[in-house]
Amino acid sequence: MTRNIIVFDTTLRDGEQVPGAKLNMQQKIELAAQLKRLQVDIIEAGFPASSAGDFKAVQEIARTVGDSVSITALARAVKSDIDAVYESVKLAQNPFIHIVLGTSNIHVEKKFSRSKETVMQMGVDAVKYAKTLLPEVQYSTEDASRSDFEYLWSTIEAVVKAGATIINVPDTVGYAVPEEFGHLIYRINDRLKNLNDKVILSVHCHNDLGLATANTLAAIKNGAQKIEVTINGLGERAGNASLEEVVMAMKVRENYYQCATNINTKELLRTSRLVTHLTGLDVQVNKAITGENAFAHSSGIHQDGLLKDKNVYEIMSPEDVGGESMELILTARSGRHAFRNAVEKIGFNVQDGEEFEKLFAKFLALADAKKEVYDHDVFYLVTNHRTIDTSNSQLFELASFQVVTNDLHPTATVTLSKGSEHSTSSAVGDGPIDALYSAIKHVADIDVQLKDYKISSLSRGKEAIGRVSIRIEVDGKTYSGRASDTDIIKASAIAFLNGINAAVLDQH
Ligand code: KIV
Ligand code: ZN
Repeated sequence: MTRNIIVFDTTLRDGEQVPGAKLNMQQKIELAAQLKRLQVDIIEAGFPASSAGDFKAVQEIARTVGDSVSITALARAVKSDIDAVYESVKLAQNPFIHIVLGTSNIHVEKKFSRSKETVMQMGVDAVKYAKTLLPEVQYSTEDASRSDFEYLWSTIEAVVKAGATIINVPDTVGYAVPEEFGHLIYRINDRLKNLNDKVILSVHCHNDLGLATANTLAAIKNGAQKIEVTINGLGERAGNASLEEVVMAMKVRENYYQCATNINTKELLRTSRLVTHLTGLDVQVNKAITGENAFAHSSGIHQDGLLKDKNVYEIMSPEDVGGESMELILTARSGRHAFRNAVEKIGFNVQDGEEFEKLFAKFLALADAKKEVYDHDVFYLVTNHRTIDTSNSQLFELASFQVVTNDLHPTATVTLSKGSEHSTSSAVGDGPIDALYSAIKHVADIDVQLKDYKISSLSRGKEAIGRVSIRIEVDGKTYSGRASDTDIIKASAIAFLNGINAAVLDQH
């Protein structure tokens, strides 16, 4: 019999812990809406006790997509964290509270400096308190894979008796290997079934040894009912198990795993690209499922075999994950109908009216500059349009710029606006970008260090859009910014400003 595996997406919590991957409110909502289209069962929307901004974002996600997706957020085993989760998720149809507390000796002794009994009691008290707020409570035994098994089990037993409805077993530091992790899950599942067979057993694997997907699959094979994963495998350090890899392994090898998920796999590629676009973190070209080369066959022997029968060298087709069918080529003469059709085909809803007209005007400007507009271009046009917040008068906008480059004194003049104020400055630099960024820093009056600057081209066509991703440091914290435009100097300026605006938002 095929078992249904519950997919819990933590891109907006564990994924967002990647330095520089912090998203603004609109970006988070855009991603949550796409996760809903992907049909994940649960979204972990953030860590509301960590900041007012995170709290508000979780609340907005619960309000906007919580009608059909279950929403949760993370709390440490303390009352104030649990209250923050409750207050932020309660508008969702099916909200629950996620509590985390360590079970390994190293966590108990070094992180808490308390006795094992005291730490276990903290967990029990936290669950009892959370149960007074919501019926569903998940308990994560942090660092489970390095915990003493009998203490781990005693903790699970105690928190289940206190009312926990989901037990999550994390390989927090990516230490586990598949056979051993599978065996751990088998032992826990065996005892849990006898204790309370309604409790859901879940796993959360990190990729420090490149084994997160393998460990998650081993856990599924050994009885795990729920998996915690992220898009593109984003997450703390080397990341989490990648949603697309685990889901497609279950689908392609259904005969082996005998498990299925509710995921609409045709949304995988689009979701991966949206995450790349929003976070600025590219996936490697040979990344399984969503890398640029994942379905490219270059060797002559392979191409010959494929032409005879696709199954010779393909275990799944690009269409299964949303590839190919997205291809579109538009021009400035395509008209509203064709443009709307293209936008809808890549998965976005657009209502007629002012918003659509603004988007269409941006499309025409792009089509004039670029001549041929591809699926990638439409995708970035729509996501940029939706995720740029122009309503905040604290934020800088590029009003105008001029850059003159030569091998003696490259110079830039920049005018920025902030609310109704405009300021202009000029600077000389080692090169045109250095001059541009010095002028922006001068106007913004912020001490910002550029850490990384990357430029690449988006999609095909000889007038390809340039995409610029930057990473900056402000007051010891890392922020990132991205922008795309047919003019790479303009994209460079806007990417830098987006990074500065992320710092401004974080500090207010
Ligand atoms: O890695 C981890 O242990 C976590 C928990 C909060 C589940 O992210
Ligand atoms: Zn984690």
